[in-house]
Amino acid sequence: MVNSERVLVIGVGRIGAVTAVGLAHLLHDVTGVDTNVQRVEELQAGRLREAEPGLRAALKGALRLRSLRFERAVSPGGYGVTFLCVDTPPLPGGEPDLRQLFAAAEFAARVTARDGVVVTRSTVPPGTGDRLEGALRAAGRHDLAVVHMPEFLREGRAWEDFREPDRVVVGANDAAAGERVARMFSEIPAPVFRTDRVTAELAKYAANALLATTVSFANEMADLANCLGADTDTLFEVLKADRRVGKEAYLGPGLGFGGHCLPKDTAALEYAAATRGVELHQLRATIRVNRERVARAAAWLAEATGGLEGREVALLGLAFKPGTDDLRASPAMALAAELARRGAAVRGFDPLVPGVEGVVCPGTVEATLEGADALVVAHRAEWAREVTPERARGLMRGLVVYDAPGALNHAAWVEAGFLTNRCPLVGVRAGDGVGR
Ligand SMILES: NC(=O)c1ccc[n+]([C@@H]2O[C@H](COP(=O)([O-])OP(=O)(O)OC[C@H]3O[C@@H](n4cnc5c(N)ncnc54)[C@H](O)[C@@H]3O)[C@@H](O)[C@H]2O)c1
Repeated sequence: MVNSERVLVIGVGRIGAVTAVGLAHLLHDVTGVDTNVQRVEELQAGRLREAEPGLRAALKGALRLRSLRFERAVSPGGYGVTFLCVDTPPLPGGEPDLRQLFAAAEFAARVTARDGVVVTRSTVPPGTGDRLEGALRAAGRHDLAVVHMPEFLREGRAWEDFREPDRVVVGANDAAAGERVARMFSEIPAPVFRTDRVTAELAKYAANALLATTVSFANEMADLANCLGADTDTLFEVLKADRRVGKEAYLGPGLGFGGHCLPKDTAALEYAAATRGVELHQLRATIRVNRERVARAAAWLAEATGGLEGREVALLGLAFKPGTDDLRASPAMALAAELARRGAAVRGFDPLVPGVEGVVCPGTVEATLEGADALVVAHRAEWAREVTPERARGLMRGLVVYDAPGALNHAAWVEAGFLTNRCPLVGVRAGDGVGR
């Protein structure tokens, strides 16, 4: 049985909005606040910028039932549980910038009810809960408990993942506070892990490091498979058929992991370990392999096109992965920048990204391919797979295709005269098989 709480969500960006809507659907009385006034007004009007299936309808439903509201300012005292969902972006050395988090905690200290709980939903380095507790005590709030509840949802499937996550982790050093927060989510059909706070903090980083490791492992295996002439698709299907691995594993080639979580969280974990004198060799290798992906793709394209200066490149897929509009740390965007740096003109298409700075977006696949010297496929998405070699030949000027995720039928493209990145470049003179 859910005990209904009066909840405040501080920071209603991508994660905070899902948290606020989700808690309202779990029958809590929820108020969302954000320093971004435009965001507050949009959400209060039922508008959602991000592409998250199901979330807009759920937002509107909760607003209609008045179990949810977004406000520019809130008055102190009434909130039993305050969720901190602000960003923890990376600093250049990998260390997360926790300024938003501590500013939000200061606000929480002013508005959370007596004997309340402050829950961090943001991804935070191990030990942050202790520091937050110290900040709350320094603000005179000895009565507040700090609980960490990591968010594991996938962008593009945020609403589905809120309602049916793989697991719920509640990390608390104060058993009663942990119990109170766990009860708020008792209707969620998922295994619940009640841990101490630092274990919960580490669990999120470790989970993302594990996912990142599979991505880098897969990319190295794909490179080797291409050299050997092995069938990468079948190779990864064989690996995923192992029950100890699983069919949803991140095993497949690509431009590397991107987005707002894996790059920053792997860097933050490496930083957190290094500051304690612990070297994470495997994680370091995972990060290094990932950093090289974009440079390798650009180098292959430069060689295959006989030099990128003055070339036109069509890029299909701009967001950090298919099914989202999020461009943060997108490998496709990093490749676009690298190609531009090498003198190429890049045109891009992504059905969820209407436009983006630095890349011309003509709005259709056809217009993007028109006159291109090379095609880059960044996403393994249905719409990208619909591009046939016949269609591309009719539109493009050149015959080069870099299919990062192995989305296309390689044999059909080779048959049609294209040079693809599954073909070894050994023996191919710069410019061979490129122009017509
Ligand atoms: N995006 C994901 O898929 C994902 C998944 C799991 C965890 N996380 C973690 O969740 C956290 C938030 O990520 P996000 O993608 O939602 O970021 P975001 O930038 O979309 O949202 C953060 C929001 O906090 C607001 N904000 C900043 N300081 C504030 C303050 N003092 N008071 C009120 N509002 C404030 C910002 O205006 C913004 O709207 C990060 O720690 C991230 O690592 C993200």
